[in-house]
Amino acid sequence: MRKKIIAGNWKMNMLPNEAISFINEFTPLVNNTQNEVVLCVPYTDLFYTLLNVQGTNIKVGAQNMHWESTGAYTGEISGEMLKCINVDYVIIGHSERRQYFAETDETVNKKLKKALSVGLKPIVCVGETLQEKEDGKAIDIITAQIKKALDGLNEEEVKNTIIAYEPIWAIGTGKTATAEDANESIITIRKEIEKNYGKNVAECVIILYGGSVKSTNAKELFTTSDIDGGLVGGASLKPEEFAKIVNFDKE
Ligand code: 13P
Repeated sequence: MRKKIIAGNWKMNMLPNEAISFINEFTPLVNNTQNEVVLCVPYTDLFYTLLNVQGTNIKVGAQNMHWESTGAYTGEISGEMLKCINVDYVIIGHSERRQYFAETDETVNKKLKKALSVGLKPIVCVGETLQEKEDGKAIDIITAQIKKALDGLNEEEVKNTIIAYEPIWAIGTGKTATAEDANESIITIRKEIEKNYGKNVAECVIILYGGSVKSTNAKELFTTSDIDGGLVGGASLKPEEFAKIVNFDKE
Protein backbone atom coordinates (compact mmCIF):
# COMPACT_ATOMS: atom_id res chain seq x y z
CA MET A 1 0.00 0.00 0.00
CA ARG A 2 1.20 3.49 -0.81
CA LYS A 3 2.06 5.68 2.17
CA LYS A 4 0.15 8.94 2.54
CA ILE A 5 2.26 12.07 2.36
CA ILE A 6 1.01 15.39 3.68
CA ALA A 7 3.40 18.13 2.59
CA GLY A 8 3.17 21.81 3.44
CA ASN A 9 4.43 24.34 0.91
CA TRP A 10 5.11 27.53 2.81
CA LYS A 11 5.95 29.40 -0.42
CA MET A 12 7.56 32.81 0.35
CA ASN A 13 6.30 33.00 3.94
CA MET A 14 7.68 32.58 7.45
CA LEU A 15 10.73 34.27 8.98
CA PRO A 16 12.99 31.94 10.98
CA ASN A 17 11.43 32.93 14.33
CA GLU A 18 7.98 32.22 12.88
CA ALA A 19 9.18 28.87 11.56
CA ILE A 20 10.51 27.92 15.00
CA SER A 21 7.25 28.88 16.77
CA PHE A 22 5.31 26.93 14.16
CA ILE A 23 7.40 23.80 14.72
CA ASN A 24 7.11 24.06 18.52
CA GLU A 25 3.34 24.18 18.30
CA PHE A 26 2.97 21.71 15.43
CA THR A 27 5.29 18.88 16.49
CA PRO A 28 3.27 17.52 19.45
CA LEU A 29 0.08 17.63 17.36
CA VAL A 30 1.41 15.24 14.70
CA ASN A 31 3.72 12.92 16.61
CA ASN A 32 1.24 10.03 16.49
CA THR A 33 0.55 9.95 12.78
CA GLN A 34 1.50 7.12 10.41
CA ASN A 35 1.43 9.61 7.54
CA GLU A 36 4.63 11.17 6.21
CA VAL A 37 4.75 14.82 7.30
CA VAL A 38 6.84 17.23 5.23
CA LEU A 39 7.48 20.96 5.52
CA CYS A 40 8.76 22.59 2.32
CA VAL A 41 10.18 25.86 3.57
CA PRO A 42 12.03 28.87 2.08
CA TYR A 43 15.82 28.40 1.79
CA THR A 44 16.40 30.86 4.63
CA ASP A 45 14.32 28.68 7.00
CA LEU A 46 15.96 25.37 6.07
CA PHE A 47 18.71 25.44 8.66
CA TYR A 48 16.43 26.50 11.54
CA THR A 49 13.75 24.03 10.52
CA LEU A 50 16.20 21.13 10.22
CA LEU A 51 17.61 21.88 13.68
CA ASN A 52 14.18 22.17 15.28
CA VAL A 53 12.66 19.00 13.78
CA GLN A 54 15.56 16.81 14.92
CA GLY A 55 14.21 13.76 16.75
CA THR A 56 10.67 14.25 15.40
CA ASN A 57 8.75 12.54 12.57
CA ILE A 58 8.77 15.74 10.46
CA LYS A 59 10.75 15.78 7.21
CA VAL A 60 12.05 18.90 5.51
CA GLY A 61 11.89 19.93 1.87
CA ALA A 62 12.98 22.83 -0.33
CA GLN A 63 10.77 24.52 -2.91
CA ASN A 64 13.16 24.55 -5.88
CA MET A 65 16.71 23.65 -6.96
CA HIS A 66 19.04 24.02 -9.95
CA TRP A 67 19.91 21.08 -12.21
CA GLU A 68 23.67 21.71 -12.24
CA SER A 69 25.88 20.70 -9.30
CA THR A 70 28.00 23.87 -9.13
CA GLY A 71 28.88 26.82 -11.33
CA ALA A 72 28.25 30.41 -12.27
CA TYR A 73 24.50 30.49 -11.56
CA THR A 74 24.13 33.47 -9.25
CA GLY A 75 21.30 33.08 -6.78
CA GLU A 76 20.72 29.39 -7.43
CA ILE A 77 20.96 26.39 -5.06
CA SER A 78 21.97 22.90 -6.22
CA GLY A 79 20.56 19.51 -5.28
CA GLU A 80 23.90 18.58 -3.69
CA MET A 81 23.69 21.69 -1.48
CA LEU A 82 20.27 20.64 -0.23
CA LYS A 83 21.20 17.00 0.25
CA CYS A 84 24.34 17.73 2.23
CA ILE A 85 22.44 19.69 4.90
CA ASN A 86 19.95 16.77 5.23
CA VAL A 87 17.03 18.13 3.25
CA ASP A 88 14.90 15.14 2.17
CA TYR A 89 12.38 16.52 -0.32
CA VAL A 90 12.31 19.13 -3.07
CA ILE A 91 9.35 20.58 -4.97
CA ILE A 92 10.01 20.79 -8.70
CA GLY A 93 8.03 22.67 -11.34
CA HIS A 94 5.44 24.32 -9.10
CA SER A 95 2.97 26.25 -11.29
CA GLU A 96 4.08 29.53 -9.68
CA ARG A 97 7.63 28.82 -10.89
CA ARG A 98 6.32 27.88 -14.33
CA GLN A 99 4.24 31.08 -14.42
CA TYR A 100 6.60 33.67 -12.91
CA PHE A 101 10.10 32.20 -13.29
CA ALA A 102 10.15 30.65 -16.75
CA GLU A 103 10.17 27.04 -15.54
CA THR A 104 9.48 24.73 -18.48
CA ASP A 105 8.84 21.01 -18.92
CA GLU A 106 12.48 20.74 -20.03
CA THR A 107 13.91 22.39 -16.90
CA VAL A 108 11.55 20.30 -14.78
CA ASN A 109 12.94 17.16 -16.41
CA LYS A 110 16.56 18.25 -15.84
CA LYS A 111 15.88 19.14 -12.20
CA LEU A 112 14.03 15.88 -11.61
CA LYS A 113 16.95 13.81 -12.95
CA LYS A 114 19.40 15.69 -10.76
CA ALA A 115 17.23 15.46 -7.64
CA LEU A 116 16.94 11.67 -8.05
CA SER A 117 20.66 11.29 -8.72
CA VAL A 118 21.60 13.01 -5.45
CA GLY A 119 18.98 11.10 -3.42
CA LEU A 120 16.43 13.86 -2.87
CA LYS A 121 12.75 12.93 -3.00
CA PRO A 122 11.25 15.07 -5.76
CA ILE A 123 7.65 16.32 -5.69
CA VAL A 124 6.89 17.23 -9.31
CA CYS A 125 3.92 19.53 -9.85
CA VAL A 126 1.56 19.37 -12.83
CA GLY A 127 -1.84 20.92 -13.47
CA GLU A 128 -4.00 22.79 -15.92
CA THR A 129 -5.12 26.45 -16.01
CA LEU A 130 -8.78 27.47 -15.84
CA GLN A 131 -8.74 28.27 -19.57
CA GLU A 132 -7.31 24.85 -20.41
CA LYS A 133 -9.94 23.21 -18.21
CA GLU A 134 -12.75 25.19 -19.85
CA ASP A 135 -11.41 24.34 -23.31
CA GLY A 136 -11.58 20.64 -22.39
CA LYS A 137 -7.80 20.31 -22.64
CA ALA A 138 -6.99 19.44 -19.03
CA ILE A 139 -6.23 15.77 -19.64
CA ASP A 140 -4.00 16.50 -22.66
CA ILE A 141 -2.08 19.15 -20.73
CA ILE A 142 -1.51 17.00 -17.66
CA THR A 143 -0.53 13.95 -19.68
CA ALA A 144 1.95 15.97 -21.73
CA GLN A 145 3.47 17.50 -18.59
CA ILE A 146 3.88 14.05 -17.03
CA LYS A 147 5.41 12.57 -20.16
CA LYS A 148 7.95 15.38 -20.52
CA ALA A 149 8.80 15.48 -16.81
CA LEU A 150 9.54 11.74 -16.71
CA ASP A 151 11.35 11.61 -20.07
CA GLY A 152 14.48 9.43 -19.89
CA LEU A 153 13.87 8.11 -16.37
CA ASN A 154 14.17 4.39 -15.62
CA GLU A 155 11.52 2.40 -13.71
CA GLU A 156 13.25 2.76 -10.36
CA GLU A 157 13.52 6.53 -10.81
CA VAL A 158 9.85 6.83 -11.72
CA LYS A 159 8.91 4.83 -8.60
CA ASN A 160 10.89 7.32 -6.51
CA THR A 161 9.17 10.34 -8.04
CA ILE A 162 6.26 11.90 -6.19
CA ILE A 163 3.77 13.76 -8.34
CA ALA A 164 1.49 16.56 -7.17
CA TYR A 165 -1.59 17.26 -9.27
CA GLU A 166 -2.37 20.92 -8.63
CA PRO A 167 -5.03 22.42 -10.91
CA ILE A 168 -3.90 26.05 -11.19
CA TRP A 169 -7.45 27.38 -10.84
CA ALA A 170 -7.65 25.73 -7.40
CA ILE A 171 -4.44 27.22 -5.98
CA GLY A 172 -5.03 29.92 -3.38
CA THR A 173 -8.54 30.53 -4.70
CA GLY A 174 -10.58 28.58 -2.16
CA LYS A 175 -11.92 26.54 -5.09
CA THR A 176 -11.09 22.90 -4.56
CA ALA A 177 -11.52 20.29 -7.23
CA THR A 178 -14.19 17.88 -6.03
CA ALA A 179 -12.71 14.74 -4.54
CA GLU A 180 -14.19 12.79 -7.42
CA ASP A 181 -12.71 15.06 -10.12
CA ALA A 182 -9.30 15.23 -8.44
CA ASN A 183 -9.27 11.45 -8.09
CA GLU A 184 -10.24 11.03 -11.76
CA SER A 185 -7.37 13.29 -12.88
CA ILE A 186 -4.96 11.37 -10.69
CA ILE A 187 -6.19 8.07 -12.13
CA THR A 188 -5.45 9.54 -15.58
CA ILE A 189 -1.91 10.40 -14.47
CA ARG A 190 -1.44 6.88 -13.11
CA LYS A 191 -2.69 5.40 -16.39
CA GLU A 192 -0.22 7.52 -18.33
CA ILE A 193 2.59 6.19 -16.15
CA GLU A 194 1.27 2.66 -16.62
CA LYS A 195 1.33 3.09 -20.40
CA ASN A 196 5.04 3.89 -20.37
CA TYR A 197 6.35 2.00 -17.35
CA GLY A 198 3.86 -0.78 -16.58
CA LYS A 199 1.29 -1.41 -13.87
CA ASN A 200 3.75 -2.35 -11.17
CA VAL A 201 5.54 1.01 -11.42
CA ALA A 202 2.29 2.98 -11.75
CA GLU A 203 0.87 1.38 -8.61
CA CYS A 204 3.95 2.44 -6.61
CA VAL A 205 4.01 6.10 -7.58
CA ILE A 206 2.72 8.45 -4.90
CA ILE A 207 0.43 11.11 -6.38
CA LEU A 208 -0.75 14.03 -4.25
CA TYR A 209 -3.51 16.57 -4.75
CA GLY A 210 -2.92 20.29 -4.17
CA GLY A 211 -5.18 23.35 -4.40
CA SER A 212 -7.13 24.84 -1.48
CA VAL A 213 -6.78 21.78 0.74
CA LYS A 214 -8.19 22.51 4.21
CA SER A 215 -9.04 20.51 7.32
CA THR A 216 -12.66 20.47 6.16
CA ASN A 217 -11.99 18.76 2.80
CA ALA A 218 -8.81 16.75 3.52
CA LYS A 219 -10.57 13.55 4.56
CA GLU A 220 -12.84 13.47 1.54
CA LEU A 221 -9.91 14.02 -0.82
CA PHE A 222 -7.39 11.71 0.82
CA THR A 223 -9.68 8.72 1.24
CA THR A 224 -10.38 8.33 -2.49
CA SER A 225 -8.83 5.40 -4.37
CA ASP A 226 -5.87 7.19 -5.93
CA ILE A 227 -5.10 10.41 -4.04
CA ASP A 228 -2.12 9.63 -1.81
CA GLY A 229 -2.12 12.83 0.26
CA GLY A 230 -1.72 16.52 -0.36
CA LEU A 231 0.54 19.44 -1.12
CA VAL A 232 -0.89 22.19 1.03
CA GLY A 233 -0.21 25.92 0.66
CA GLY A 234 -2.11 28.48 2.76
CA ALA A 235 -3.45 26.00 5.31
CA SER A 236 0.07 24.74 6.07
CA LEU A 237 0.99 28.10 7.62
CA LYS A 238 -1.25 27.51 10.66
CA PRO A 239 -0.01 24.77 12.99
CA GLU A 240 -3.41 23.68 14.29
CA GLU A 241 -5.07 23.68 10.88
CA PHE A 242 -2.19 21.86 9.20
CA ALA A 243 -2.09 19.29 12.02
CA LYS A 244 -5.79 18.59 11.44
CA ILE A 245 -5.02 17.94 7.77
CA VAL A 246 -2.17 15.60 8.70
CA ASN A 247 -4.52 13.80 11.11
CA PHE A 248 -7.38 13.57 8.58
CA ASP A 249 -7.60 9.82 9.25
CA LYS A 250 -7.76 10.13 13.01
CA GLU A 251 -11.38 10.73 14.07
P1 13P B 1 -3.16 26.51 -1.57
O1 13P B 1 -3.30 25.32 -0.65
O2 13P B 1 -2.89 27.78 -0.83
O3 13P B 1 -4.27 26.59 -2.55
O4 13P B 1 -1.81 26.25 -2.42
C1 13P B 1 -1.64 25.04 -3.06
C2 13P B 1 -0.24 24.95 -3.53
O5 13P B 1 0.15 25.67 -4.44
C3 13P B 1 0.66 24.01 -2.86
O6 13P B 1 1.85 23.85 -3.57
